[in-house]
Amino acid sequence: MRNRMIAGNWKMNKTYSEGVVLAQGLARELEGGTGSVDVVVAPPAVDLKGVAEVIEQEQAPFALSAQNVYWEESGAFTGETAPGMLNAIGATYCIIGHSERRGYFGETDEDINRKAKALMAHDIVPISCCGEPLEVREAGEHVAFVVDQIKKDTEGLEIEDPSKYVIAYEPIWAIGTGKTATADDAQEVCGAIRKTLAEIFGQEKADGIRILYGGSAKPENVAGFLEKEDVDGALVGGASLKADSFAAMVKAAM
Ligand code: 13P
Repeated sequence: MRNRMIAGNWKMNKTYSEGVVLAQGLARELEGGTGSVDVVVAPPAVDLKGVAEVIEQEQAPFALSAQNVYWEESGAFTGETAPGMLNAIGATYCIIGHSERRGYFGETDEDINRKAKALMAHDIVPISCCGEPLEVREAGEHVAFVVDQIKKDTEGLEIEDPSKYVIAYEPIWAIGTGKTATADDAQEVCGAIRKTLAEIFGQEKADGIRILYGGSAKPENVAGFLEKEDVDGALVGGASLKADSFAAMVKAAM
């Protein structure tokens, strides 16, 4: 079955040295291990190498994720990072399609699909984000909206090992607002996502793909989400910026 996953998206927070301190703190908090829970941290690009070194030195029980990637191998793409560059510093996951990248930087479903293919060709696990804005939720069209994103984002993907493709459902109205979706809201959409994945990849594959919830997830509410059949973990923003609160969420998932 699916191992739970708790992933921390630091977004554009923490300088290099602050990132090292946070990773060291997390290594200490989690030194007893994380059981069957897969723990991932996604620092800003310039912090990745420093966090990779902490993971190696401390034998820390968490994996390293980037927050973005470009799909080309190399070349004249100023400001971008290639998948092979992530391999070279030990990042084994990469967030793609976060609503902040879709909203502020114009990332499209087609871009997200290309990024997923490039990452998977480099054996980097995509954490592919989806989620609806408030007006879509209020119109009652959230399930259809997210299902459409999933179909476009996964088009033509070949998933051999379903543990190596992760989806994060993050309703945009719940991100950084303190307004969480209810566990039932999350289950409604995560259940629809799994059904869509089963139509595309077959039930067995769909049953192996982790679907995370994100949006004001914190130590006090994470257990309620994890109780739901199709919610396999959390993608955490604000509460991942302190070692103790993030570790508490990992422990709640164990
Ligand atoms: P918050 O947990 O700060 O709401 O952020 C969620 C998120 O966007 C994680 O990717």
